[in-house]
Amino acid sequence: MALYELFAHPVERGYRAGLCSKAALFLLLATALTYIPPLLVAFRSHGFWLKRSSYEEQPTVRFQHQVLLVALLGSEPGGFLAWSTFPAFNRLQEGHLRVPLVSAREEDRNQDGKMDMLHFKLELPLQSTEQVLGVQLILTFSYQLHRMSTFVMQSMAFLQSSFALPGSQLYVNGDLRLQQKQPLGYGGLDVRYNVSVINGTSPFASDYDLTRIVAAYQERNGPTVAGFQKRKEGFLRCLKREQMWEASDWKLLQW
Ligand SMILES: *[C@@H]1O[C@H](CO)[C@@H](O)[C@H](O)[C@H]1NC(C)=O
Ligand SMILES: *[C@@H]1O[C@H](CO)[C@@H](O)[C@H](O)[C@H]1NC(C)=O
Repeated sequence: MALYELFAHPVERGYRAGLCSKAALFLLLATALTYIPPLLVAFRSHGFWLKRSSYEEQPTVRFQHQVLLVALLGSEPGGFLAWSTFPAFNRLQEGHLRVPLVSAREEDRNQDGKMDMLHFKLELPLQSTEQVLGVQLILTFSYQLHRMSTFVMQSMAFLQSSFALPGSQLYVNGDLRLQQKQPLGYGGLDVRYNVSVINGTSPFASDYDLTRIVAAYQERNGPTVAGFQKRKEGFLRCLKREQMWEASDWKLLQW
């Protein structure tokens, strides 16, 4: 004769132990492990399935004490005065070389170990017949980001001013800004653009041509820094800027 299940009911089996027993401890541990590690992992990896995001970081910027100055004179056609911190460039200038008085001071306003400002002053001695109608100036900086990937580059501030009437003073106040063409990496070290903005060892005049230097700089196909504008004594401020970064495949595979 075949048998059929006519009735079923679950049996609950309880276990008793004191709150200070090993069993209670194990239960507590198991519960904690169920909830806390996933939260920590989600927090540390900045979210699940993230492809691209942005964050804020103040870069570490240091003035490299490299200067290239060209002052255009109005008195004679094509007249100019030039000076730089590169001996090879100065040798090329011959009669156009004029050595200015330069002072530069970096300032860390909030004492966080990162420079916030550069006070740069340049005084160019002029003869009474010389009238300056334009100024072109390049200052170079080392620029580093650390929070996501370590990104190191050499960057510049390019300043170009011209006046209809000869000026005796130029005052410029500007910000160094990151102009990002590509996202930064999620981790690792990026030194692609840790190359000199100006090739100071080159004996060729073409390597010091400002338009070529600026063009080569703008062609950098990664995060680069763009310049600022206007009068002589320059304050340069570094702002906290949002940087984009890209998650690596590895990070996606974690999930
Ligand atoms: C970047 O370049 C400078 C000068 O060439 C060098 O001293 C520095 O070590 C480089 N930094 C990295 C991280 O490669
Ligand atoms: C700088 O110029 C010199 C001479 O033209 C050249 O040999 C050298 O490779 C250049 N350096 C860089 C970094 O372009």
